[in-house]
Amino acid sequence: MEFTAAHAAAGFRDAVRTRTYGMSSPTGGARFDSLCVAPPSPTGDGDPLVASIVQSTTFVRDGLESGAVHRYSRESNPTVAALERSLGRLEDALDALCFATGLAAETALILATARSGDHVVCSRAVYGGTTRLLRQVFADLGVDATFVDTTVPCEVANALRPETKLVFVETPSNPTLVLSDLREIAAIVRASRAILAVDNTFLTPVLQQPLELGAHVSVYSTTKFIEGHSVALGGALVTRDAALRERLFFLRKCTGAIQSPFQAWLTLNGLKTLPLRIERQSANAERVARWLAGHEDVAVVHHPSLPGFPQRQLADAQHRGGHGAVVSFELAGGQERARRLLRGVRLCRLAEHVGSVETLLTHSASMTHAAVPREERDALGISDALIRLSVGLEDPRDVIDDLAVAIAGSRACDAQEEVIRCAAAE
Ligand SMILES: Cc1ncc(COP(=O)(O)O)c(C=O)c1O
Repeated sequence: MEFTAAHAAAGFRDAVRTRTYGMSSPTGGARFDSLCVAPPSPTGDGDPLVASIVQSTTFVRDGLESGAVHRYSRESNPTVAALERSLGRLEDALDALCFATGLAAETALILATARSGDHVVCSRAVYGGTTRLLRQVFADLGVDATFVDTTVPCEVANALRPETKLVFVETPSNPTLVLSDLREIAAIVRASRAILAVDNTFLTPVLQQPLELGAHVSVYSTTKFIEGHSVALGGALVTRDAALRERLFFLRKCTGAIQSPFQAWLTLNGLKTLPLRIERQSANAERVARWLAGHEDVAVVHHPSLPGFPQRQLADAQHRGGHGAVVSFELAGGQERARRLLRGVRLCRLAEHVGSVETLLTHSASMTHAAVPREERDALGISDALIRLSVGLEDPRDVIDDLAVAIAGSRACDAQEEVIRCAAAE
């Protein structure tokens, strides 16, 4: 099948398999893909193959001196802990901390690092919800944020102040897929008192390992690729810093932001197929991006795999064998054309989401980035015509056929309107 050859050529599986992980894991020195599938704890005779969900909100203690690990599920829960073990070992890190959503994880991270009077540096090209959280919630609590172009590392250096406690970078960025050089930024941030957090939602640890590149924390909306089937919300923070983890654990307990056991269980099951899904979806995205780039009606396409992608060298150095399943593009003809295309698709669906097994289209300006003022969206390249595509597991030829019909349909409307306009003018 074409998929196998394409992937072998891209070195996908070799790239993620060359590294062995901590011997302390129950699977010994197992490789990445095995760690995604392996149960979080060793299983013995008669144990269920698939970890059970522990829904109990509370746990019995022997007495007041009980050393029980789990006491109350707002603090910790065995099913959530199982997901945390699995996610942590994918980055050779401490057990992750899982949250109800990606934004709950980001909230805990900011609370853990910054207080009133402190300062945060954040990528300008970032998920709209992150911008909103910093501008409309933390600003009122006295945490100042500067948004900079992190694709230019010296902008990070210039924005650092003595009171900067957190540098938050998203790469590839949502939705224009510009890249920030994590090694360079980590060197800058590590020379200061701030910590570097990287939103790795789009690539996941399969295709990018922020901690290996020097970050202190990897941030995830597990709602996206990690769970992968659009059935569970979740967020995760992964770090090797024990003191930071302890503070995050405490804040999660205080704010009640932990993921529910059922959502964690769904995510654990999704994780088993993460390497396969993201590799295939990434390869499918490359194919769709190439097709879009060759289409006469398409004005702009963003995907790091494309030959003309301005940061191609960085993409190859920083990503592990693939560039992710998210593509964005604009049709010549602007917003109205985009609107018609979004109405015209059949297989692909319009939804505010990425990372699902279904191909989804998003209109970033009115959906994910609606909270970002228009002039800032324009400066970031998020025009009203920009469409974000999260390519799924369908045969990419069907995705292309669907887009081809929808693009042609939107053109026909152009022609019809032109006739109407001319008739009206006569
Ligand atoms: C890159 C990125 N980070 C964080 C989030 C927030 O995640 P959640 O929706 O799980 O709160 C999203 C959501 O779309 C996202 O795309």
